Amino acid sequence: MNTQQQRQQIRRQIRKIRANLTALQQQQAEQAVTGQALDLIEHHQAINIALYLSFDGEISTQSLIKALWKKNNKVFLPVLHPFAKNHLLFLQYLPDTPMVQNHFGIWEPKLNVQNVLPLNELDILFTPLVAFDKQGNRLGMGGGFYDRTLQNWQQKSFLPIGLAHACQQIDTLPIEHWDVPLFDILVG
Ligand SMILES: Nc1ncnc2c1ncn2[C@@H]1O[C@H](COP(=O)(O)OP(=O)(O)OP(=O)(O)O)[C@@H](O)[C@H]1O
Ligand SMILES: [Mg+2]
Repeated sequence: MNTQQQRQQIRRQIRKIRANLTALQQQQAEQAVTGQALDLIEHHQAINIALYLSFDGEISTQSLIKALWKKNNKVFLPVLHPFAKNHLLFLQYLPDTPMVQNHFGIWEPKLNVQNVLPLNELDILFTPLVAFDKQGNRLGMGGGFYDRTLQNWQQKSFLPIGLAHACQQIDTLPIEHWDVPLFDILVG
């Protein structure tokens, strides 16, 4: 099996395992990760936080988003770039932000150039992932969206942090040269 086939197999396997988590396991993971994320945000005195709306069994980010809205934080969500294929923009997300479904069926803030945050103003970028290993390598859904966003993150001053269920960890991910490792991964 070549690397691409291995990666596809890992995606299939882990998504299936994750889909079998119970509602209780999901709730506990959400609670655990929310607490860890709030501690981390406090520790880094982070203000601008990029998150994502969970789907496909990803740990729910709802509690974290609500907690951040109550604090002195700003929440941003990824939006598919209208022209640059497979690139993301990050737009502010508030309780009354108009939302639209993108072509993956994921809800995103309606594009409004005034609400786009330049990446160098972001403090923490929480990423979804399908699988990860203890070196901080991540495997996503296969679009390369986050790999593009995370290029040279060290020079943009934000920290990329993964959120994952423990069952998403594997020993060693087969990585490619374009994969960008995360600064840390919070496991619920
Ligand atoms: N910085 C980049 N510039 C151009 N193409 C890239 C870049 N990063 C990744 N790609 C391309 O994106 C495709 C998907 O990459 P990969 O399989 O690593 O996605 P992924 O990490 O699972 O997805 P995501 O980042 O969306 O979670 C690959 O074909 C790769 O060549
Ligand atoms: Mg990748």
